[in-house]
Amino acid sequence: MNRTLYILFWSLITTSALAEEVDKRQTLTITETQRGHVLEEMRALLAGTQSILDALSRDDMAAVAQHAGVLGMGMAHKAEDHLKGALPKEFMQLGMSVHQDFDQIAADAESVKDPKHTLRQLGDSTGKCVACHATYQIRTTR
Ligand code: HEC
Repeated sequence: MNRTLYILFWSLITTSALAEEVDKRQTLTITETQRGHVLEEMRALLAGTQSILDALSRDDMAAVAQHAGVLGMGMAHKAEDHLKGALPKEFMQLGMSVHQDFDQIAADAESVKDPKHTLRQLGDSTGKCVACHATYQIRTTR
């Protein structure tokens, strides 16, 4: 590649990288405490997903069921108390459907006991994590 092309190539890459740095996702404005609760729940979702994958790699379907159960609707009801009315309906619904997925993953891990089936369910469900993260960002009131 000659020098001019090389410079053009890199300036194109840097420009598009910079353009993407502006966060244009929909803003959710909540209090610092509410943000704390949301992010704590998020970290629990990631940690739980990691535990499920770890259990799957050992074909330990009982452990899969246990870890998935923790991320189910029981977890959602706890979070709901802190966030009542603070977040848009679409956001809450997407969040709830993820918790329902984990209850289903737990139930199927106990009855179907097929790691491949669990992986498919996890793939679908983590698609919702990706979709929500692509749509929203959190800002605090102060
Ligand atoms: C209904 C929307 C929604 C769903 C579904 C969702 N998240 Fe999040 N998550 C968010 C938002 C909003 C943030 C904050 C993003 C920001 O402000 O930049 C976040 C942040 C996070 C963080 C960062 C936590 C921190 O301490 O900074 C992790 C990790 C995370 N999510 C994991 C997950 C995982 C794993 C799933 C799926 C199993 C998931 N999330 C599903 C909305 C969602």
